[in-house]
Amino acid sequence: MKKTLLITWWTWYIWSHAVVAFEEAWYKTVIVDNLVNSSINTLIWIEKILGYKPDFFEVDLRNNEKLDEVFKKYNFDWVIHFAWLKAVWESCNYPLKYHDNNLVWSIRLFELMEKYGVKNIIFSSSATVYKPSPLTPLPDGEGNIIKLWYTETDLTWDCSNPYWTTKFVLEQILRDLAIHSWFNVMNLRYFNPIWAHETWFLWEDPNGIPNNLLPYIMKVATWDLPYLNIFWNDYKTIDWTWVRDYIDVNDLVEGHLFAYSKLDERQKIKVESNEQNHPTPLYKEGINLKWAFETYNLWTGKWVSVLEMVKTTEKVIWKEIPYKIVWRREWDLAEVYCNPNKAYKELWFKTKVSLEESLSNSWKFYSSKN
Ligand code: WQD
Repeated sequence: MKKTLLITWWTWYIWSHAVVAFEEAWYKTVIVDNLVNSSINTLIWIEKILGYKPDFFEVDLRNNEKLDEVFKKYNFDWVIHFAWLKAVWESCNYPLKYHDNNLVWSIRLFELMEKYGVKNIIFSSSATVYKPSPLTPLPDGEGNIIKLWYTETDLTWDCSNPYWTTKFVLEQILRDLAIHSWFNVMNLRYFNPIWAHETWFLWEDPNGIPNNLLPYIMKVATWDLPYLNIFWNDYKTIDWTWVRDYIDVNDLVEGHLFAYSKLDERQKIKVESNEQNHPTPLYKEGINLKWAFETYNLWTGKWVSVLEMVKTTEKVIWKEIPYKIVWRREWDLAEVYCNPNKAYKELWFKTKVSLEESLSNSWKFYSSKN
């Protein structure tokens, strides 16, 4: 009997790759989305890859009645929660919009999960919950730059923008549900997915002016935009521009599959050991929380500056990307990347898609549009 997964969808197209990956791995997926920030056409592209359209319901997660009907219709085994707003600058301009969308929606979803006994969730969290890194890394005394990266046990705190706050709070809510309500949570932290599906049928193609670096570069390459604005260059990297760890979405979704398998394996052990029906929640028994709430960084472990991204793109697509160094973007961080070793050791997760391959897939889509 196929396991049935509820996939909540909103602004990032990562969910569409997850639907394809989980359907191809013989799971049944059911998608809910309110289509405010997304297009129903994505389902047409998924159908081109799978040969059929997954079940889809146009539901606003705050509409408890309609979402309840979806839970009634299916006996979900899992939920993969991707539905949130994610633009840092926008969250600073509209904090309550982010608190309402990201927090209220999620709590409505968790309430229905509890009502229907759906206790397994993969939550796509973010590295934004880590303490913001110093703008200039500490040299090691010989003038070399020490890579500063966060491990899962590092403190999370002081979220200096509403988007980060919502991610941090949702992690705490899910941790509470794991301890007090027998939820099984796989908490995945990542930051900069870049993507186009290898079939070129799925991609990130935001309406209007893109916020994120890669789609903006691609729109410059197709002359939809005149040049790239590089937000400031005051960081001690080889070219002074700011750095990120860009993970290809095909790797990222594989990380979700590995995380699913890990928690599913634990779930089986719990049921066999009758722990699932444990008379008291974890906190009273001091049972290792690791069995109910586990965090993994899904990262490449590499470090790419903005200019390196521009130069690599030029090399891959054989086109110049004009740019200007401009002001610093509000709330931007100079550096964000994390230690990927725990996912490698415990999930056997290691990224395989190179930056060049990611850029080539993206370009095949963008160039095919014109
Ligand atoms: C990357 C780098 C910019 C655009 C995004 C999401 C956020 C979070 C992390 C999950 C930065 C520079 C960008 C441009 C530029 N995801 N840049 N010119 O800022 O890391 O945030 O990923 O939690 O939700 O928004 O990604 O692609 O916007 O920027 O110079 O036109 O490129 O300064 O250094 P960011 P990004």
